[in-house]
Amino acid sequence: MTFSPRTIIEPFRIKSVEPIRQTTRQERVEALTAAHYNLFLLRARDVLIDLLTDSGTGAMSKNQWAGMMMGDESYAGAESFYRFEAAVKKITGLGQVIPTHQGRAAERILFGAMVVPGDVVPNNTHFDTTRANIEAQRATALDLPIPEAREPSTYHPFKGNMDLDALERVLSDPSARVPLVMMTITNNSGGGQPVSMENLREVRRLCRRTGVPLYLDACRFAENAWFIKEREAGWADHSPMQIAQAMFAEVDGATMSAKKDGMANIGGFLAMHDEALARRCRDNLVLTEGFPTYGGLAGYDLEAIAIGLEEALDEDYLRYRIRSVAYLADRLASAGVPMIQPPGGHALYLDAAAMLPHIPVSEFPAWALSCALYLEGGIRSVEIGSVMFGQQPDGSEVPARHELVRLAFPRRVYTQSHVDYLAEALLYVYERRDKIRGLRIVQQPPALRHFSARLAPAHQSLMAE
Ligand code: F0G
Repeated sequence: MTFSPRTIIEPFRIKSVEPIRQTTRQERVEALTAAHYNLFLLRARDVLIDLLTDSGTGAMSKNQWAGMMMGDESYAGAESFYRFEAAVKKITGLGQVIPTHQGRAAERILFGAMVVPGDVVPNNTHFDTTRANIEAQRATALDLPIPEAREPSTYHPFKGNMDLDALERVLSDPSARVPLVMMTITNNSGGGQPVSMENLREVRRLCRRTGVPLYLDACRFAENAWFIKEREAGWADHSPMQIAQAMFAEVDGATMSAKKDGMANIGGFLAMHDEALARRCRDNLVLTEGFPTYGGLAGYDLEAIAIGLEEALDEDYLRYRIRSVAYLADRLASAGVPMIQPPGGHALYLDAAAMLPHIPVSEFPAWALSCALYLEGGIRSVEIGSVMFGQQPDGSEVPARHELVRLAFPRRVYTQSHVDYLAEALLYVYERRDKIRGLRIVQQPPALRHFSARLAPAHQSLMAE
């Protein structure tokens, strides 16, 4: 017999610590009031557990920090660029590698070179910045997730999949000009859900038939690879690296935010096979990002990403990461807390509409829940609901499809006792859900209001006595 433990531990020990600060409930009342009931306007020092995003918030390894000391800050042709390029090529097999300061810069440059007004770009689900960058070209960003993706409580192992029939209809419609198809792995806006290798290959087949290039929005490619290993027949014996290589082998190019599975605090890239297209992208890169061997990054950032991309594919790391989100989801689900099932790779999405049926959409139930989580537990989450999506360009209000609260996990930052604390705080709020009251908007900008809007309780207070 050999010892085969059931406990999945953090596959690291801690060498450098960053204190987090306990606050009293009264202090949080004051902080929330001063932030106008907008968690984006809080000071981070007033947050105990920060699950606002998994983007750029991860902890780097000792190898990454050591790598940063090796950063070659030469303006052109730095060694750090070649190490970065080799790491990206090893995983993606894409020959043209263009560094950018983060994911959205890669998107802007790619769409600037490929998309013209009137085009249609299908995706399983566009992330906000992808959509905005396509719309900035006066083109249409089309979301084509499978129908199961729209039902929060329905289980599907690959809820990030593309609706193949819908894609085929778009690709065979002679009036729709499609310059490229995108696949977001994992599908962040759809709940951090993975795409199966089979679905990716079918999308590839449809694209090839009509000669349309396929690109990955690859921010969380390592987490997607892990889900394929765990859930898709035929992949259990492959390493995450092999699965990632197989995914990238299906595509013509990728945009990447290295702030996610690049394990870095900043950075991104654009990569592709097409040399002529890469030349046009590099011409544009120089205007805003920088020379093509640094693209808006320091040499030390390129080193951190080169090392981080491989660390993100480590099996022990991925097992711990995916398990810590699932562990929280299991504890909440067994108490009946409604959420998107299954939980995503980087985040868990609470279904506030189901949890707080007494709060009308006009009083922003998901926003109210996220404020309540801060007030009671010092937890910062993000609303993905009608504050984020309800405001229309003409000033009217259209309720969002879902009222969700995303709890996104920074990489390698929190331990199991933090997750146990989260479960306890979330269940405390869940038991008091009848007391949570809605909010109203007091002041808002004309667009992207969730970042800066000021809100106030629609009734006497956020929590009824
Ligand atoms: N694509 C996806 C799927 C993303 O989740 C993000 C960022 C981007 C592109 C843009 O990358 O931030 O480096 O410019 N998502 C973060 C989040 C902001 O919180 O989900 P970026």
